[in-house]
Amino acid sequence: MKKNRFDKLKFLIVLLLLGGNVFAQTDTEKEIDKIIAQMTVDEKVTMCHAQSKFTSAGVPRLGIPEVWMSDGPHGVRAEINWDNWGYAGWTNDSITAFPALTCLAATFDEQSSYDYGVAVGEEARYRKKDILLGPGVNIYRTPLNGRNFEYMGEDPHLASKLVVPYIKGVQTNGVAACVKHFVANNQELWRGHINVELSERALREIYLPAFKAAVLEGETWSMMSAYNQLRGQYCSHNEELVNTILKGEWGFDGVYLTDWGAAHDTKQSALYGLDIEMGTGTNGLTYSKKNHYENYYLAGAFKELVKNGEVSEEVLDDKVRRILRLIYRTSLSENRPLGSVNTDAHHEVARRVGQQGIVLLQNEDNFFPIADKLGLKIAVIGENATRMMTIGGGSSELKVEYEISPLQGIQERFTNAEITHAMGYASGPSQYGRVIPSTLDADELKKEALEVAKNADVVLFFGGLNKSHHQDCEDGDRTTYDLPFGQGELIQALSAVNENIGVVLVSGNAVATPWTDQVKGLMQGWYLGSETGHAMADVISGDVNPSGKLPITFPKKLEDNGAHQLGELSYPGDSVNVEYKEGILVGYRWHDTKKIAPKYAFGYGLSYTDFEISEIAVDKKVYAPVDEITITCDLKNNGELKGAEVVQVYVGKNKSKVERALKELKAFEKVELSAGETSKLTLKVAISDLKYYDEEQSDWALESGDYYIYVGNSSDNISKRLKISVDSNVN
Ligand code: GLC
Repeated sequence: MKKNRFDKLKFLIVLLLLGGNVFAQTDTEKEIDKIIAQMTVDEKVTMCHAQSKFTSAGVPRLGIPEVWMSDGPHGVRAEINWDNWGYAGWTNDSITAFPALTCLAATFDEQSSYDYGVAVGEEARYRKKDILLGPGVNIYRTPLNGRNFEYMGEDPHLASKLVVPYIKGVQTNGVAACVKHFVANNQELWRGHINVELSERALREIYLPAFKAAVLEGETWSMMSAYNQLRGQYCSHNEELVNTILKGEWGFDGVYLTDWGAAHDTKQSALYGLDIEMGTGTNGLTYSKKNHYENYYLAGAFKELVKNGEVSEEVLDDKVRRILRLIYRTSLSENRPLGSVNTDAHHEVARRVGQQGIVLLQNEDNFFPIADKLGLKIAVIGENATRMMTIGGGSSELKVEYEISPLQGIQERFTNAEITHAMGYASGPSQYGRVIPSTLDADELKKEALEVAKNADVVLFFGGLNKSHHQDCEDGDRTTYDLPFGQGELIQALSAVNENIGVVLVSGNAVATPWTDQVKGLMQGWYLGSETGHAMADVISGDVNPSGKLPITFPKKLEDNGAHQLGELSYPGDSVNVEYKEGILVGYRWHDTKKIAPKYAFGYGLSYTDFEISEIAVDKKVYAPVDEITITCDLKNNGELKGAEVVQVYVGKNKSKVERALKELKAFEKVELSAGETSKLTLKVAISDLKYYDEEQSDWALESGDYYIYVGNSSDNISKRLKISVDSNVN
């Protein structure tokens, strides 16, 4: 009896909890309804556009707070003036700079992405931001794109898997992530107007997936438009892209805001899904008109359309509802954490993501790691050994509490060795949008560097790009695939005087590396933020075993890249249109399918230890459409050092009726193993993930027949290929 009474009580409690939870959800929506019912049209319209550089209005009469936004993907940008692009010069806004997102992508590690999101979200929360304007997930189509360093590489599956935990991490702080730039902003040249033409398959299979994952799995609370047009309509107000796909098919319930200055039409902004217009009336750099906020497309003119009935008030109410929902998820959220900034924990995350993302590309004679020994003379050469990289690059630039340079990291870690630095080359001071040539004497710099190198036991060259204009910077693409400022010749000259040389590239893009036969070691060091020097010294010294894998392809020469083989219209376009003629064959998909060997392949990265993948098997021969493939394998660390490996699973269709890449990444797992340790791995691929986008049906379609499963540790290093088949008659 007693038992029964207890069961009933338990049931009641569960019912109350569930009911309460359901009630709480509709409670917020009901609150929003009540607020909208009290608002005037003027108040509603005022919420739909900027009131300053980085804020949009609340409703002062009803106590609804403003929305405060800040760049960017790698950390919280310094305070900008209320109404111009100048920095406000505050003294409380120095923060932690985390590694650039290409480095995060190179970790191939979802946990790292979550930790990153939590940390950068805590800093945004502490800086009282409601929206953090990041992450960016535009696909790396060409190595010349000035903003690739802000994005997650060339593969839609990798970007989709890593964008989700980043968003979750940020939003646990009651700060909205703002995934950008939606969509096909894959070059900076003519970004403000260029019209992108591409096949529906390329759009659906390559350029949309990471955004789709951000909405459906990441549940991002906001999204930012791209500057460019897509099929003749600006992405800020694009009927197909926003109404049909983002808000229709995907059910996005958040706020769609423009990139700064990316709105171009009132009626389209009103009817094609734009919720908040930002940055109009400025050239993005200097001038902005007085009281221009009333001139915004979603300001006075929009108000007129609503008041004269040309646009229904429901359209306006939907925008306001989304904005209020974001406000309830952020500044009005009851259990919002406090945030924190510049903590040891954040520095640890920045350092660890850097350690995990550095990619060892070449290691002749075991050049790396370098042991710290008494009497060892190490020559550290190159401007990038000392140059600050947290500044520059455009809107993602940061004002840091500190930035450990590669030289400083080496000096702190190698306390026995004798470290000498020579600049070697000079790029000149960088200012956003301008490159000011150096006044230093290039010959003198080179002579000094050769002298230092000649007298050293080991030479470490830190080169690459530097986030000034045309060198991994917003609003401009690179003008060459080569390393600038004569670095290539300098590397060759250094190797002529000392063959014991290694190169660390600081960049967010692939570069030409014709000198690798003349060097022993090569690392892709990315832009690592505040902890740059520590993370680099950790790997160079062997304290940490490198485990990064390239999220991008390094073509041997630019013309080997798919966007650069099909004429000017394919890249950069004719200044009006650009046509993605390579279609779905982006990055390694192009190299594999066209059999053009890259210099370094997507997914490639060496270790100080040796791993072996064996016992590779799949659980069945024939699969039904609803099945998932279970891939198992053994991974063994055959070396003397602890290390991590990324097992990658690619799938290709044998004899397809449509064009297909030879193989596509469908699963990966990063595993750390002690020396001699073996681990059994299980990876899953849903058969539904093998679908292609059928342009005739305007839907995803699964092809029956044979497929190949490729398992390896790089897209060009496959341990085993297995054949399976899909039979739609099998259930
Ligand atoms: C810039 C960038 C965007 C940034 C915004 C605000 O033009 O394209 O990524 O968040 O404007 O600075």
